[in-house]
Amino acid sequence: MPHSEKLKELEEKKQSALQGGGAKRIESQHNKGKLTARERLEILLDKGSFRELDMLVRHRSDGFGIDQQKYYGDGVVTGYGRIDGRLVYVFSQDFTVFGGSLSEAHGEKICKVMDLALKNGAPVIGINDSGGARIQEGVASLGAYAEIFLRNTLASGVVPQISAVVGPCAGGAVYSPAITDFIFMVDKTSHMFVTGPNVVKTVTHENVTFDELGGAKTHAQKSGVAHFNKNSEVECLLEVRKLVGFIPQNNAEDPPFHETQDPIDRQSTELDDIVPTTATTPYDMKGIIKDVIDDGNFMEVHEEFAANIIVGFARLGGKSVGIIANQPMVLAGVLDIDASVKAARFVRFCDAFNIPLVTFVDVPGFLPGTAQEWHGIIRHGAKLLYAYCEATVPKITVITRKAYGGAYDVMSSKHIRGDINLAWPTAEIAVMGPKGAAEIIFKKEIDEAEKPEEVLEKRSAEYGEKFANPYIAAERGYIDDVIIPSTTRSELISALHMLENKVDSNPKRKHGNIPL
Ligand code: HXC
Repeated sequence: MPHSEKLKELEEKKQSALQGGGAKRIESQHNKGKLTARERLEILLDKGSFRELDMLVRHRSDGFGIDQQKYYGDGVVTGYGRIDGRLVYVFSQDFTVFGGSLSEAHGEKICKVMDLALKNGAPVIGINDSGGARIQEGVASLGAYAEIFLRNTLASGVVPQISAVVGPCAGGAVYSPAITDFIFMVDKTSHMFVTGPNVVKTVTHENVTFDELGGAKTHAQKSGVAHFNKNSEVECLLEVRKLVGFIPQNNAEDPPFHETQDPIDRQSTELDDIVPTTATTPYDMKGIIKDVIDDGNFMEVHEEFAANIIVGFARLGGKSVGIIANQPMVLAGVLDIDASVKAARFVRFCDAFNIPLVTFVDVPGFLPGTAQEWHGIIRHGAKLLYAYCEATVPKITVITRKAYGGAYDVMSSKHIRGDINLAWPTAEIAVMGPKGAAEIIFKKEIDEAEKPEEVLEKRSAEYGEKFANPYIAAERGYIDDVIIPSTTRSELISALHMLENKVDSNPKRKHGNIPL
């Protein structure tokens, strides 16, 4: 065959691969309000940076007439590209080919980029749009899934793994995104569930729609499976790019530095009286965070889930930090099961990837009640404590108001290796709130008093005066300094610089046993 024919043959094969399942199926994909696998990669990656691998892979099955349908690429587009000039590995499932279902060959393609990512130390971004296991292939498909799960697990904490779920993701297939660090979903068009509405109806007799069972809102608000819920695929993929900008390539590198025009010594006088004078009045902790960080640029994670705690990425003086903060506006900022698990996972991600932790504390304690106790607040609350204890990245804490009881210890206190622990003059560091304390230690006196309310009020005030301040903790060195709130930004940046070369470690072991 002459060279020109050979080139033509190659061109035809590649053109065929670019067509996926064909024009009709591409049209059907668009009619569902969805983009194709390749269109998604164009949005995700820097223009012209994508290099495809395994474009000519085809499945090798022959059951149920599938041998007559062999598409180049076999339902997934894989390769590598750049985000803001930084290398990332990608796979993007192509719903136009067998519904993006996962065959042995399709799985091998995904494993190949995961292996490359691990060897070369760069993030893996998976765009999931799939009908699950390739039904015609049976166990070969299940094996391929397991190969991916294994790699997700081995890569965990070594390279960042991000999942964008932009279509169906059902059955055991959900467990690949579940092991990755962050899941993005798109409202209305993406769904995740272990068993679909029909099976649910048969087993539990519940009538539930796809969206109610496993839509983006459900997972962003109720289950906490989704970290981000976006209105469109374009928005979703642009947010993935933004997230990548906050995180390092791998666990041996630091996050990228972003020059900022925001002065490091900028003072915000509004912070000096932002904490209300009455301890029960709420205020918005997000306002404080946005005020203190570079350019107010806060990428909140799990925004709609367990809003009593806030977690997310920001920069201080150009350096990436992970922010964890109690939110007095929601449930008074109390720690409950969801908040503990949400924050624990975030703390562990940051610690695994060398991102310093900045913690803002205003916490009245753990949430009481049978619902919490019976669902295991002891076990789940311990996760957050464990995560903070084991974290060896720089840890800076600012107590703005309440730091009561066990929650004081948990929220990155000095005792669990907080590096710099600061407090505002409004801080109240005590075993519990003044009223609760007086009710216990002066119970007899209050019960026997002619006017119990007056005694309670007097004793509460006494307790408050003695303990509801930062100075007892400061006298012991548990608080490194009590600072003027308006100087918080410069104090944090100065501490971050001071901790730049921090080295700390944990005892040698196979792995710890976090209370799961
Ligand atoms: C092979 C599949 C497929 C699959 C869809 N297709 N899912 N082919 N294996 N799992 C094909 C269809 O035959 C169709 O082919 C094309 O993809 C588009 O599918 P439609 O049904 O027309 O699309 P839509 O109406 O949008 O519905 C999408 C869907 C539905 C909800 C995903 O296709 C569906 O329910 N699929 C089966 C899901 C499922 O039960 N999967 C197995 C789950 S168990 P044509 O040729 O017409 O374009 C599992 C175990 C994993 O995944 C275990 C891991 C450990």
